[in-house]
Amino acid sequence: MKQEGKTLIAPSILAADWGKFAEEIKAVQSAGADWIHIDVMDGHFVPPITFGAQIVEAARKVTNLPLDVHLMIERPDLQLENFARAGADSITVHAEACQHLHRTLQAIRALGKKAGVALNPATPVSVVAQVLDDIDLLLIMTVNPGWGGQKYIAHSDQKIREARQLLGTRKIQLEVDGGINHQTAPRALSAGADILVAGTSVFREPDYRAAISNLRS
Ligand code: DX5
Ligand code: ZN
Repeated sequence: MKQEGKTLIAPSILAADWGKFAEEIKAVQSAGADWIHIDVMDGHFVPPITFGAQIVEAARKVTNLPLDVHLMIERPDLQLENFARAGADSITVHAEACQHLHRTLQAIRALGKKAGVALNPATPVSVVAQVLDDIDLLLIMTVNPGWGGQKYIAHSDQKIREARQLLGTRKIQLEVDGGINHQTAPRALSAGADILVAGTSVFREPDYRAAISNLRS
């Protein structure tokens, strides 16, 4: 089961209308979003390219919600300082992109930010077993990263349960990402997730407040 406390909803701006970026952030904030999830892609770790640290600066200007930066990039060590300086609150790196994950997580914390690890669907949760003291956030990808609007991978329920088991009573937040909607959210929550990333299921809905509360309930 998830830790006690409220389920947090983190809309992903990947699915937002970038032509009205600032309004979209303000709109989900007033619709009840808890975090803003920012999907950074470099065209190498994943095929698409999205944006750099400037987008965090832009978001920082329009919201005081926690900015949850998800780095789907190779060699994330080269970018930690840029995103920290830009105003990220948490910086999540992919275990699959880090030669020295322990050192990278220490570097994020040294910058005063929350340190997160994201795991692709094929990566077992045991990969983070040796760094539980160095992370504040574990992000379980419930789709293969790179695109919004994909289908939740069915075996994710079991993986979320395994992650919850591994985290035990540690104060590490368990976040899930990809294909989260009103059908899959209850599965992820009952498996132990605390935080739901939602792109399509929020930004493609006419009423953001209804979409967010649908996910939460
Ligand atoms: C995918 C990103 C996800 C994605 C979620 O690589 O990490 O955050 O934007 O989008 P939906 O909710 O539409 O699957
Ligand atoms: Zn993401």
